[in-house]
Amino acid sequence: MAASHKNITADEVKRAVENAYQKVRSESGGKNASYIPYLASVDSNLFGISVCLLDGTIISVGDSTHTFGIESVSKVPTAILAMREYGAVDILNKVGADATGLPFNSIMAILLEKDRPSSPLVNAGAIAACSLVEPVGNKEKKWQAIVDNIKELTGAEPEVIEELYASESATDFNNRSIAWLLKDYGRIYDDPDLSLDLYTRQCSLGTTAEALSIMAATIANDGFNPVTNTQVFDPDFAPKVTSLITTVGFYERTGDWLYKSGIPAKSGVGGGVLGVMPGMFGIAAFSPPLDEAGNSVRAQLAIREIMHELELNIFAASRLCICQCRPTQEQS
Ligand code: DON
Repeated sequence: MAASHKNITADEVKRAVENAYQKVRSESGGKNASYIPYLASVDSNLFGISVCLLDGTIISVGDSTHTFGIESVSKVPTAILAMREYGAVDILNKVGADATGLPFNSIMAILLEKDRPSSPLVNAGAIAACSLVEPVGNKEKKWQAIVDNIKELTGAEPEVIEELYASESATDFNNRSIAWLLKDYGRIYDDPDLSLDLYTRQCSLGTTAEALSIMAATIANDGFNPVTNTQVFDPDFAPKVTSLITTVGFYERTGDWLYKSGIPAKSGVGGGVLGVMPGMFGIAAFSPPLDEAGNSVRAQLAIREIMHELELNIFAASRLCICQCRPTQEQS
């Protein structure tokens, strides 16, 4: 049967987002992350969803403007920044683009993958990506570059949640081992402690579901931020970034996630999940309780519900949509 492409409207997306919110809000599974003490104290009932369409329309429900710790979702913008500074080929050679099939903070993954830290979307590769950020050796300028890049991707300047940063810095023993193991293997490109501190600080940035949906929409829109109307990064990087998210966005649960949801997505232990439907929309959901692999239970269920209701799946030709909300060349 020939593929027949779907059109979806903003109203249909709105209905799907609201239905998913109602259906999932009473779900009580999962637990807040506790290995970072601050995260254990966040209200477990918080729950928000945002979708950003490629014409800049944002559809939100619940606690979509509540500020929470971006955590591992920050690995996505810094991977983009490293690509902007070094190009996609260099990032593949210096960091890698492989799935690990192991937890996000795995030391085993570093030992197994002999030449590179696997992917900028696991802890080892993210610390390596922070080490690459220009100008090497200048911590404050590197930090400004990380923050400025997120500002371009979301349209809003993110701020560090100081209590989270202190909490994480006091307990990041595993990540310290990773940074120094990378040094031993010649896979870190700046001072290991400086690189680790930048990584910890970026994980402690506050964000919102709304901001993450704009970042996701920018990736889905070939690097063009539909809210600020600016080309943030080279369109050629967009499929590379989405491929990284596809292969390792949910760590050792990535295959299960893709199989069930049909959308590449990246999670963080703060409870955020960012999903990218290229050419269609960016989506983000946030709720603190996590499953055993560190992925938000409600955010996963909500995004799956929305994909299901809209009958979308990145792997099904007949379910790819031509979103009416995307401005065509003639319209814009
Ligand atoms: O490095 C860590 O352990 C945290 N700052 C981030 C981990 C994380 O978000 C994993 N994602 N689900």
